[in-house]
Amino acid sequence: MNVAVIGGGGREHALARKLAASSRVEKVFAMPGNDGMRDVAEVRPEIGETDFQAMADLCAENAVEWVIVGPEAPLNEGVADFLEGKGIKVFGPRKAESKIESSKAFAKDIMERYGIPTAKYQSFTDYDAAYKYIESVGAPIVLKKDGLAAGKGVVVATDMDEALAGLDALMEDSDAPVVIEEFLEGEEFSLMVLVNGEYTHAFEIIAQDHKRAFDGDEGPNTGGMGAYAPVEHIEASVREAAVEQIVKPMAHAMISEGLDYFGVLYLGAIVTEDGVKVIEFNARFGDPEAQILLSLMEDDFIDVLEKVAQKESFELTFSPGYQVGVMLASAGYPLTYKKGYAVDFDDVRDACHVSGLKQEDGRWVTNGGRVLLVTGGGATIEAAVDAAYANVDKVTFNEGTLFLRRDIAQRALRHE
Ligand code: AMP
Ligand code: GLY
Repeated sequence: MNVAVIGGGGREHALARKLAASSRVEKVFAMPGNDGMRDVAEVRPEIGETDFQAMADLCAENAVEWVIVGPEAPLNEGVADFLEGKGIKVFGPRKAESKIESSKAFAKDIMERYGIPTAKYQSFTDYDAAYKYIESVGAPIVLKKDGLAAGKGVVVATDMDEALAGLDALMEDSDAPVVIEEFLEGEEFSLMVLVNGEYTHAFEIIAQDHKRAFDGDEGPNTGGMGAYAPVEHIEASVREAAVEQIVKPMAHAMISEGLDYFGVLYLGAIVTEDGVKVIEFNARFGDPEAQILLSLMEDDFIDVLEKVAQKESFELTFSPGYQVGVMLASAGYPLTYKKGYAVDFDDVRDACHVSGLKQEDGRWVTNGGRVLLVTGGGATIEAAVDAAYANVDKVTFNEGTLFLRRDIAQRALRHE
């Protein structure tokens, strides 16, 4: 069959590869895709992430059976509603359901009403009221802008000055509510869940992202600077608690709210002294978690989609060992950065997932904030970390044009 991936980042590169590896797939289309995906997909840069009619036309002309949506923006714009209306099968939630990611206030409200453990919060549109609230509860405190912000609309303030500066920044440019919530202390992990209404299938292994820009979890929040899986120092009982206390109740809560979710639900969770709690939900695979998890997944992705569509129970198989991914990002990301710098990763091409690179005159140049996830695998987490950084060292670029974290998977190494 023919299939299509919507999106143009590293996660979509991984999805396209995984689909191309299916014995049931003849051709993968990527809309808009990126130049790095050309080895596994027909890349259609003229079809933007929200060009729904052009997508529907491509699907009709090429008998595309499944469309897999990578990023949040088209979901939030209603890509699933539109394509389903044309009789195309879409893996990804409709607009109403994807609000679980696009509106922090909506997600928090459902969690509160159904007793799903998460940080205490209040939502504000009035600056003075928010200011007074921050003054009354004090720091540390977390501020989140409602709406999609690519992981960047969050301020984790450790003192009052940061909290009030964060409030100014988040309230400055729009009237969207700001959610102000209790600071939770603990280790975070990412759990991908395949959801179809009340049906849930949580991935058997968990992953860990590295959200802050710099080593030691310093600097601003980003979309994710590296990931690894499986995370074995977080006990299986924690994953089980997340499934029983968060995932299943959330699926039921959505049904009770008249929502019928179909797609991946990303649970960003934190292990606190009071148990596991929700940091956030996303309506899609994590990036870069998807690159890591899909490299480890042995199952045929189309088989998986069909089982989820049929609400069949099954087990996913992950290859033994570990995968580690290190993100190369443009200097200045997640704030301002320049584009057009040369990067050469030819020697480690198969270990890389391209997110923000394009080809120009036969060479690769930067074209975004996060540009390339370089991965490595191994039988132990140390071996995988070493392999990933050995591959990073085979990528060449001019000093000062890109940066990366040197401490991906440190938490796992500390527990060895
Ligand atoms: P989010 O976009 O909601 O995932 O937030 C981005 C990052 O900010 C998370 O991965 C956490 O590291 C941090 N964060 C968000 N909410 C909280 C919280 N309530 N307590 C502590 N850290 C948080
Ligand atoms: N890596 C976190 C995310 O995709 O939101």
